[in-house]
Amino acid sequence: MKLQNDLILRAARGEKTERTPVWMMRQAGRILPEYREVRKSIGGFKELVETPAAAAEVTVQPVDILGVDAAIIFSDILVIPEAMGLSYQMVEATGPWFEKTISSESDIQKLKIAEAGDLDYVMQAIQLTKKALNGRVPLIGFAGAPWTIFSYMIQGKGSKTFSEAKKFLYTEPVLSHKLLHKIAESTINYLKGQIKAGVDIVQIFDSWAGVLSPEQYKEFALHYISMICDAITEVPVIVFAKGAHFARKEMSKLNCDVIGLDWNMDIKESRQMIGNNKTLQGNIDPCLLYADEGTIQLETEEMLKAFGPLRHIANLGHGLYPDTDPEKVKFFVNTIKNFKHLD
Ligand code: CP3
Repeated sequence: MKLQNDLILRAARGEKTERTPVWMMRQAGRILPEYREVRKSIGGFKELVETPAAAAEVTVQPVDILGVDAAIIFSDILVIPEAMGLSYQMVEATGPWFEKTISSESDIQKLKIAEAGDLDYVMQAIQLTKKALNGRVPLIGFAGAPWTIFSYMIQGKGSKTFSEAKKFLYTEPVLSHKLLHKIAESTINYLKGQIKAGVDIVQIFDSWAGVLSPEQYKEFALHYISMICDAITEVPVIVFAKGAHFARKEMSKLNCDVIGLDWNMDIKESRQMIGNNKTLQGNIDPCLLYADEGTIQLETEEMLKAFGPLRHIANLGHGLYPDTDPEKVKFFVNTIKNFKHLD
C-alpha cells in the first residue's frame, strides 16, 4: 500500500522533504492515559505486549493523539532473551527482572537462536497495526542491540553500571563473543520477520553503549551491530547508541541509513564526525518537555536550525519520561511541524 506520509522514509534515504519529520522514542505507552487504560484492562505490561490487538491499539494511539509522522510497534527489546530461553518479568516501578541469568558456557549452549516464528505475537501485532494505520504513516520495527541484550541476560535486571555484564567481557571474552553472536543471529531473524510482517524501517537500540570503553565498544558492540546492518537490506536502518559519543566516527562506517544522537552530543560536531552520507536523528533532552512552551519552542527551533533542512529526523535524545505532560509533547511535535527552514 502506498503511504500518504512517507517523510521519515524519504529523510532516512537522504531525499528532500517539505518539512522535518518527527517521532519520539517511547511514544507508545508511558505518557498517555489512553495507554494506561488499555494496559489496566488487559492485566499488565507483558499481557499487553503479547496480545496483538491491544498492542496494535496502543501503537496507533500516538499517531492519533500526538500527530507524529511514524508509529513504533509496541513491544519490548526483552522479547529476544525470552525467545532464546530466558523469560523476564516486568516488575511495577522497578523494571525488568530475569529469574535465570547467563554465567557459564553451558548456559550459553542451552540458549536457542530465536526465529521469527518464536515471536509470532509481534508479527501479528505488526500486521494488525498496518491494517489500522491504513497507510497514514510508516511503521517502525525495532530490536535491542546485542550488547544491550547481553547486559540484561548477564545482569538479570537494570543497573547503572552493568558491572556484572562488563565483568563477563573482561573475564570471559571468548564466551562473551559466543553469546553476542547468538543474540545477533536471533536479532537478524527477528528483524527480518518484522519486515516480512510489514514494518517500513527498523531501529536498533543500544541503550547501554555508554558504559563501555571505545575499544570494548568496537569489539563487543559495534561488530555485532555491523553484522545486523549488513544483513538488513530491505528497509532503512536507524542505529541509536545512547552515550556512544566516542564511537561516532566509527559508526559513520556502518551500513545503516540513520544514526541517532543523544542530547549530550553536539549537533554540528556530530555532523562533521559522521559526514553527509547518513541522516541524523534526535536530539532534544526529554527534560526540556518539563519547561514552559516558550522555552520548548526556542530550543526546538535552535535544534532544527543546527541540523538544517536535509538528512534530519527530529526526535528526543532518549525516550519520553513517564511523567511528561502529553500537551507539552503535542506542543513539541507541532513546533517541528510548523517550522520552516530558510532556503
Ligand atoms: O518506543 C516505543 O514507544 C515502543 C515501545 C518500547 C517499549 N520499550 C515499551 C515499554 C520500546 C521501543 C522499548 C525499548 C526498550 N525496552 C529499551 C530501549 C530503549 C531505551 O529506552 O533505552 C530498553 C532498555 C527496554 C527495557 C525496559 N522495558 C525497561 C528498562 C523497562 C522499565 C522501565 C521503563 O519504564 O522504561 C521497560 C518497560 C517498558 N517498555 C515500558 C514500556 C511502555 C513501561 C512499562 C509500562 O508503562 O507499562
